Amino acid sequence: MCGIVGYTGAAPAEPILIEGLSRMEYRGYDSAGVAVQQGEAIEVVCRKGKVSELAHTLEHFDLDGTCGIGHTRWATHGKPSEANAHPHTSCAGDIAVVHNGIIENFAELREALIGRGHVFKSETDTEVVAHLVEEAYHRLREAGTGDLRAAVAEAASQLVGAYGLAVMAEGEPGTLIVCRKDSPIVVGRGEMGSYVASDIIAMIDATRDVVVLADDQMASLTAEGIAYFDMDGNPLEPEVTHVDWDIDVAEKGGYPDFMLKEIHEQPRVIRDTLAGRLSGGALTIDELDMTPAELNLIDRVYVIACGTSYHAGLIAKNLIEGWARIPCEVEVASEFRYRNPIITPTTLVVAVSQSGETADTLAAIRDARVRGAKVFGITNVVGSPVARESDGVIYTKANKEIAVASTKSFLGQVVSLTLLAMLLGQSTGRLTGGQIKLLFSELADTAEAVERILAECGPAVEEAARAMVDATSALFIGRGMGAATSYEGALKLKEISYLHAEAYAAGEMKHGPIALIDENFPVVAIATDSPVYDKVVSNLQESRARGACIIAVATEGDEDIAKHADHVIYIPKVRDAFSPITASVPLQLLSREVAVLRGCDVDQPRNLAKSVTVE
Ligand code: M6R
Repeated sequence: MCGIVGYTGAAPAEPILIEGLSRMEYRGYDSAGVAVQQGEAIEVVCRKGKVSELAHTLEHFDLDGTCGIGHTRWATHGKPSEANAHPHTSCAGDIAVVHNGIIENFAELREALIGRGHVFKSETDTEVVAHLVEEAYHRLREAGTGDLRAAVAEAASQLVGAYGLAVMAEGEPGTLIVCRKDSPIVVGRGEMGSYVASDIIAMIDATRDVVVLADDQMASLTAEGIAYFDMDGNPLEPEVTHVDWDIDVAEKGGYPDFMLKEIHEQPRVIRDTLAGRLSGGALTIDELDMTPAELNLIDRVYVIACGTSYHAGLIAKNLIEGWARIPCEVEVASEFRYRNPIITPTTLVVAVSQSGETADTLAAIRDARVRGAKVFGITNVVGSPVARESDGVIYTKANKEIAVASTKSFLGQVVSLTLLAMLLGQSTGRLTGGQIKLLFSELADTAEAVERILAECGPAVEEAARAMVDATSALFIGRGMGAATSYEGALKLKEISYLHAEAYAAGEMKHGPIALIDENFPVVAIATDSPVYDKVVSNLQESRARGACIIAVATEGDEDIAKHADHVIYIPKVRDAFSPITASVPLQLLSREVAVLRGCDVDQPRNLAKSVTVE
């Protein structure tokens, strides 16, 4: 996610901005920039790539101004580039804006602004804000009826979507105006001046007494102080929060560990991954760089990946075959690279890797390309080897994932693969425009469903975790989409709690695993509403008859399941195709809870690394 930082005070702004941006690097970004007020002029410097590259470039500038704003951008509208990096400026360059969030009505605003003579320099949604503020600012100033604060309020009133904004104007040197809606903005006073950021971590060295703006609140920052307003300009007295976290905790955003923080980021990941994908009723993934006709030629798909990413592939297989009717195989990359897979020029290989660095996945990509396949990468890391070595790439919008156990990246992968399956269905003509629209809207609704799971299922998860904490082994079962989900549930549990877990397609129980079942062997079943629900219930009954403690993940309203399970974790109803997105979340929480109860290091499990760059 993008990061905002701003400062106005007695000290040079540039080093403060760079330090703040560096502190937010962990969030993930593809470009960075600053705007500093030099006398009455605003100087903007942006770079694609790392904050360190921006800092290096700034060595060639002589910026000593004491008021400025900075930004790290993770592309949503428009590719990662210097032109699309923030700050964005008005036509005259006299207004500079940094923005977090997504402005949903930017296309119509942009068209109207162009109609009124504005000239755009970037492809971003953000730039409309600079032009809207420019219009309002000059009109209000000429009429003597308003200032930059009023102009920003007027511009914000035209925006639909989410925004955290920091704005400066040449006409009001030393002033920063900030406001927010559904995107965090924090302000605070330090010894050397006034600070703003989208994340407390960026200003924690300057002050620990901060005001977290609420939606539709604004602040005006000067070297002398900070004034707070509602969007109509009425003064406010906001509550000051004292931050007593250390830096480590601040980075965790108040959560006890990164894994829990990252689990809670998943509704945002779903929304960001879907942003901008449906336009005029059609799905577009421009980054893949293939025409519908080229896509239509694909007659075989391989998904290659390792670990959790492989499980995302198992989910995708059902969707690709179901919606596009193209045969799809899912293979662990370490196997794929050493066999002789059937690849032709009409084979599509989809390489899935959170880190974008996994050695086996990279080797499999190289092998597939040599054999003539087209390779799409799905990764979370911009510019990673998987991104560079693939023909096209979809970036999951998870932002940097710190916990070794992949959670939000997994969900980003599943959503991206779902989009790819829909795209293939669209290009083969198997999915109509109406079906695409319906599927997309239901997919978007999963963000809210995950939000509800995070808000409501804590007590049920804790109860289930207590029931399995002393076990030495656990079995995860499901059928159809639930089988794919159960594989990921078992991996999550074993990697962070060191409790042995296995996953089986539930129908396989009586072909062997049922011999293991006794009262010390808990069974976690994915028993959500689906065409195979009754079959899963039968498998539960078989396990229960042998004394197993049953933990079921089931759909809200299914009271019957309580007769077959000792513990039930209810989740909202979604289409079966999207059930892995929702059902994975309680399983992530469950494994974390078991790991905590067993005293394990949740974020850094033994023997594991975040990126596996060796074979
Ligand atoms: O970075 P990648 O997605 O390629 O990594 C693949 C696996 O190493 C990874 O998913 C691993 O299984 C995680 N620890 C799972 O939480």
